[in-house]
Amino acid sequence: MAHVSIIGTGNMGQAIASVVSKGGNTVELLGSADKDQQVTGELVVLAVPYPAVRDVIAERGDQFAGKVVVDITNPLNFETFDSLVVPADSSAAAEIAAALPQSRVLKAFNTTFAGTVASGKVGDLPTTVQIAGDDADAKSLLSGIVAAGGLRVEQGNAGVVVAEEPRHAHGDAVQPARVAGHRRRALGLARALGMVLDALRERAAQPRLVRAAVGRRDGVAIGRQEPIGIAGPRDRPLRPAVDADLA
Ligand SMILES: NC(=O)c1ccc[n+]([C@@H]2O[C@H](COP(=O)([O-])OP(=O)(O)OC[C@H]3O[C@@H](n4cnc5c(N)ncnc54)[C@H](OP(=O)(O)O)[C@@H]3O)[C@@H](O)[C@H]2O)c1
Repeated sequence: MAHVSIIGTGNMGQAIASVVSKGGNTVELLGSADKDQQVTGELVVLAVPYPAVRDVIAERGDQFAGKVVVDITNPLNFETFDSLVVPADSSAAAEIAAALPQSRVLKAFNTTFAGTVASGKVGDLPTTVQIAGDDADAKSLLSGIVAAGGLRVEQGNAGVVVAEEPRHAHGDAVQPARVAGHRRRALGLARALGMVLDALRERAAQPRLVRAAVGRRDGVAIGRQEPIGIAGPRDRPLRPAVDADLA
């Protein structure tokens, strides 16, 4: 039986805690009010926003020595929604690994929504948790815990540096299509979600400018942006990177 510590009692912390318990393993959930409580798990999940990871490491870094530390963050620039806040040749997991040289750091859960982790399903398919990292034993430990909790595991060969491909932002949506082998559907969903993200970004920059929608045409998911009242600049390209990425 494994013992897991989860730091962060929000949506993901609670969802991951339920998976751990379902698999017959033990879990402790530590919130920001539990700073005096020592971490006792052999595996520690950092279920906090990326900017808070630095504080957690400052507060508890020494307690993580010898443990497997799991980074689940999506270090998105939440002001612009168009880039990551980690260097292009790095990743959140790689930055965390550099800050915790005595821990084995994994990347996982960043491609799944809290709701699909908790329910164990994406539509009719099992939720898939992608795990990346440099240490095979650490990956096996986390894989066992996740699989025991009823989720599907995809253990890649990717190390922590390449753990954050931008396309991971579309993980839950694209994954089931990939699993089912429907590449066309995966591309459609990725395009649609990319367009919706763009629409949301535009809307954040200029409230009430556009409305985003996802629909289906000829069996393929499509994204649509509809102006609402105010005319505005519409010269921003619609995420060509997503198409190029998956092509
Ligand atoms: N939600 C999703 O579907 C999803 C999917 C994939 C990945 N993620 C990633 O998962 C992480 C958590 O997301 P979430 O949706 O669970 O966020 P959330 O619901 O806002 O929860 C974040 C938690 O972090 C805690 N926290 C912040 N600073 C802390 C500290 N220094 N020590 C201990 N706890 C601290 C907060 O506690 P207080 O409120 O007490 O400060 C809060 O409980 C993020 O990095 C996100 O990018 C989320």
